Amino acid sequence: MIRIGLLYGGMSSEHDVSLCSAASVYEALDKDKYKVTAIGINRDGRWHVQDHAEIVKDKDFGKILNLKKTGKWLINHFNDNHRLVIYNIDNGKKVEVDFILPIIHGTNCEDGRLQGLLELASVPYAGADVTGSAIAMDKDAAKRLLDHSGIRVVPWHTIIHDSFINDPAAIIDKIVSDLSFPLFVKPNAAGSSIGILKVKEKDKLKEAIENALLYDNKVLIEKGIDCFEIECSVLGNNKPESSITGQIIPKHEFYSYEAKYIDPQGAELKIPADIDGSIAESIRKTALDAYSALCCSGMARIDFFLEKGSNKFYLNEINTLPGFTSISMYPKLWEHTGLPYSSLLDRLIELGFEAHQNRIRLKTKP
Ligand SMILES: Nc1ncnc2c1ncn2[C@@H]1O[C@H](COP(=O)(O)OP(=O)(O)O)[C@@H](O)[C@H]1O
Ligand SMILES: [Mg+2]
Repeated sequence: MIRIGLLYGGMSSEHDVSLCSAASVYEALDKDKYKVTAIGINRDGRWHVQDHAEIVKDKDFGKILNLKKTGKWLINHFNDNHRLVIYNIDNGKKVEVDFILPIIHGTNCEDGRLQGLLELASVPYAGADVTGSAIAMDKDAAKRLLDHSGIRVVPWHTIIHDSFINDPAAIIDKIVSDLSFPLFVKPNAAGSSIGILKVKEKDKLKEAIENALLYDNKVLIEKGIDCFEIECSVLGNNKPESSITGQIIPKHEFYSYEAKYIDPQGAELKIPADIDGSIAESIRKTALDAYSALCCSGMARIDFFLEKGSNKFYLNEINTLPGFTSISMYPKLWEHTGLPYSSLLDRLIELGFEAHQNRIRLKTKP
């Protein structure tokens, strides 16, 4: 039986979303194949191995995987057998897992930092590696690479905290002369729409930038696109496949945090997306091109803006650890493409082991 460490929570503003994704994943993992240990990461970054996985009701998210403090744990590893070993410093209890399934989102979790820790511990894990995770999380870096690969992205400006503080007026004037309103102001590497504001006039721009700078030292200003939001799931390592497309229809001004998680009627998910078949095909192909361009592996949900009135689509962003609740777009798209939720988890675990084998076969001596 494979011992899976289901990693959830995280030192990230998407901590709560992860608790919800993890509850669905825990329930769906085949307990005949896997012995699952829930390992929660607190908002302060401390790991807490749970004695047993406890799924509880939550007012915003419906149900979540509870995260209890369980003392001080030390993460260790044995390089010779590729297991992650976690010790409880207080009582000497030892927990071993053969594989880490990170169902965790955002900063410190989805951006290569966690993946780096897991690679140093030489434990197999699911999802994109350090490089893919780091690039996809960095919206500015991702857009530059996509642009370089001939994939259309929304015109944007990048603001750095220190330069903005020195001369906000000059930066704002430059943006306004270059991009037309409405504008979207977003932290470079956050997620779940946290810190994002839609700005319709120049007077509101400074405040919106200052707000986004609370979440990141780099902020993106993008031209607002009047669009249909189309998403596509990709799965695989060297021969990735793309799912059918889905559509998000936000009932708020845009697909904000409230529309995503708080308001149960905040958005409608439509699968398949209500778009022309040839555009859907073209989006699926572009999703695969983008997946390779950004060095992704394991999985990613790739989000597009299809401009109303033209057939132009823009790649908005790539999420390497997408939402994984039972109603989330990533697993839903696979379900509609013919891969049920728990088989999707099996496949992600297989892909993680495959990627690990490819890493450990490499020589470490000249
Ligand atoms: N340039 C844009 N034009 C139109 N809508 C946008 C634009 N940028 C963001 N949005 C809206 O904001 C939402 C969140 O933006 P996104 O870049 O996907 O950030 P996150 O990583 O937080 O999901 C999008 O789903 C969309 O509704
Ligand atoms: Mg998004």
